[in-house]
Amino acid sequence: MNTVQEKDFLPLPALADVPEAGSVSWRSSSNIALIKYWGKRKGQLPQNPSLSLTLDHCATTTRLAFTKRKTASGDFSFHIFLDGKSNKSFEPKIRQFFTRIAPYISFLEQYHFDIHTSNSFPHSSGIASSASGMSALALCVMELERQLHTDMSLSHFRNKASFLARLGSGSACRSIGGPWVVWGEHSDIEGSTDLMGVSYPYETHEIFTGYRDTILLVDTGRKEVSSTLGHQLMHDHPFAEQRFTQARKNMGKLKRVFANGDLESFVEIVESEALSLHAMMMTSSPYFILMKPNTLEIIHRVWEFRKATDTPLCFTLDAGANVHVLYPKSEKDRAQKFIDTELAPFCDSGRLIHDKAGMGISRV
Ligand code: DP6
Repeated sequence: MNTVQEKDFLPLPALADVPEAGSVSWRSSSNIALIKYWGKRKGQLPQNPSLSLTLDHCATTTRLAFTKRKTASGDFSFHIFLDGKSNKSFEPKIRQFFTRIAPYISFLEQYHFDIHTSNSFPHSSGIASSASGMSALALCVMELERQLHTDMSLSHFRNKASFLARLGSGSACRSIGGPWVVWGEHSDIEGSTDLMGVSYPYETHEIFTGYRDTILLVDTGRKEVSSTLGHQLMHDHPFAEQRFTQARKNMGKLKRVFANGDLESFVEIVESEALSLHAMMMTSSPYFILMKPNTLEIIHRVWEFRKATDTPLCFTLDAGANVHVLYPKSEKDRAQKFIDTELAPFCDSGRLIHDKAGMGISRV
């Protein structure tokens, strides 16, 4: 398998004759990392490889309406609408995204864009929308590039969409593909690269087909620490190198588990990764505790249930207090009964989302 290079994504020649106006629309799912990305190098490049499960229900749908500008004045012209309402709070993030992708896309300054976006999950759910949002927008940009260059191959379309999404938000590059996606070079994973996400290239044991994720909304407030700040805190973190080495080792271990279906090891790798991510935050300067009392209560109940019933259910965490509970499809009924009765009371207003492995993207 040939690995891509940055030069593969350089802009296609600008066309003098671009369409006057139109719109394109894509839906992209969120993803949850099992091997965590925490720490990056210049250019949105990860310090270690990560691996995620692409979700199905939790998604962003974005419509990009474009109108040719009379004069291209060396800046970007865009307006964002969230659920039909003008939204200025995303502007800095989108401007940064356009600035970062401009070296790879030739037509950005030729158009005014209206970006209409909506999420399938509630705003105040504490679920980060940056992975699904940035990947949906990157797909729309690529759809427009494909309309201008109709001979583009499907693989180039997807690869470049993931490459652009990464420049918007690192984890977003893993939403283009599924159900398992690797981002970051690893010697055991052919085709893996720091530049974009690639669908896990090997067959997985049948137990991993249709894997389930229930998201427990413990804290639905604003994120206490932005991921951008969190990644920065890894720069002079006393345990940074050990953490990056641990993630690389865990990727190798997970590859073996994906092949042999050993769920006991799977549980161990996934939970250790989640706790290591939080350990990094607790030991950075400044330090943070992002778990809430109910996060810990849920974790202990997951452990008790697993021990008592031998059900291979485990948890993972994002950079926040919410808990993702993962389990095989074959355990769905038993696991969901336990979650709905014993874990839901520890969620904010009992809110949770039963989701499952998905393939990420679709044109709308
Ligand atoms: C804890 O992708 O949100 O969710 O690249 O700065 O946008 P930026 O960061 P982001 O970081 C995600 C961190 C994480 C772990 C993960 O998804 O791998």
